[in-house]
Amino acid sequence: MTERLQIQNLYKIFSNSPAPALEILAKGGNKNEVFEKLGAVVGLNNVSLSVPESAMYMVMGLSGSGKSTLARCINRLNEPSAGKILLDGRDIVPLGEEELREVRRTRISMVFQHFALLPNKRVIENVEFGLKLRGVAPAERRRRAEEVLTIVGLGRWGYHYPHELSGGMRQRVGLARALATDADILIMDEAFSALDPLIRTEMQDELLRLQRTLNKTVLFITHDFQEALKLGTRIAIMSEGELVREGTPQSIVLEPGSDYVAAFTREIDRARLFDARSVMRAAEPILRSERGTIVGDAGGGFVLDREGKVLGVLDAAALGRAREGGEVGTPSADYVSVPSTAKLLEVARRYRDGRPIAVVDEHGKFVGSLGADDILARIASTASETVPAGDRHV
Ligand SMILES: Nc1ncnc2c1ncn2[C@@H]1O[C@H](COP(=O)(O)OP(=O)(O)O)[C@@H](O)[C@H]1O
Ligand SMILES: [Mg+2]
Repeated sequence: MTERLQIQNLYKIFSNSPAPALEILAKGGNKNEVFEKLGAVVGLNNVSLSVPESAMYMVMGLSGSGKSTLARCINRLNEPSAGKILLDGRDIVPLGEEELREVRRTRISMVFQHFALLPNKRVIENVEFGLKLRGVAPAERRRRAEEVLTIVGLGRWGYHYPHELSGGMRQRVGLARALATDADILIMDEAFSALDPLIRTEMQDELLRLQRTLNKTVLFITHDFQEALKLGTRIAIMSEGELVREGTPQSIVLEPGSDYVAAFTREIDRARLFDARSVMRAAEPILRSERGTIVGDAGGGFVLDREGKVLGVLDAAALGRAREGGEVGTPSADYVSVPSTAKLLEVARRYRDGRPIAVVDEHGKFVGSLGADDILARIASTASETVPAGDRHV
């Protein structure tokens, strides 16, 4: 996969003379130390990350952790104090004003939490605004604006005024405006955070749907871990201006690596509510041999003895050989066993990199299996499914 956007050792010190602060940080000092010694605020402290093409890359962290500063450095609303920002391999930090404007117009679009729609202009004119600045001819920009309004589900609202739209619809206009320029990188800074929960869920689903067809590279900033889990292909977690954890949603939930990150995973109510039985895949017998019954799917299977207890696991290759009439071979002990009553959080704790999970009853009999994706899908799904459809509105 191509790396569309790479941040390398990026620093932002809010000060006219960042050098002394950078020196403290280089010696291992932190944001606090810099503030105590110099009174300068550290926005970013040595942040490096890599956003692959077509990623939904989430930047997550508590308020004040530096998320917006990172976004603002990328499109240079904030001037980085040190470090590189590579766009398709080319550093954009040294670019002059003219070239920067070009990058902002054609490569990177931003969607904010609160963005200003011009109140006396129709929705469609608001969407066209960026194109007008770019010098796109009137007919062409109208065509493009109509197209993107349809994409975000507002095809019939182009000739209304902003005050006629709900908060959710205005946020869609913001999205349409960002899409109109056809920039391939979207930076969304808490773009859904001000929306009420139901509309927020709808916008998240909408973004996932759009992403499947538009295939943009999205850098999405949020303080909401659940949102990060739901949308992200990768998540970077920030604290005090530093990137403290980076990885796939699965790996972060299952191996937080620090108390700060673990605290987010603990807040996931679902993990407390659901037990292994409610999420597991039921046992499907797929083969019987003299060694025992094999249950599972194409990805692999558990070998069970006569009483239904787990003897071990077969990977996809071993299972394939067994299905073709070959030897079953000795099943591997490389699996994790959890009681069916264990809550998902407990399951997540016991999970070990990629190993299959057997769910067993109180007698130790196999009742089903679980994968990391099953756990995550349930943890990340939102409360919206419990709300009657009739209560939804935009
Ligand atoms: N223009 C600014 N001047 C001084 N300090 C700032 C400025 N912008 C942000 N900061 C500080 O930088 C840190 C990171 O802020 P920000 O990036 O907005 O955090 P987040 O978006 O994660 O809530 C905070 O300590 C904040 O107070
Ligand atoms: Mg912010």
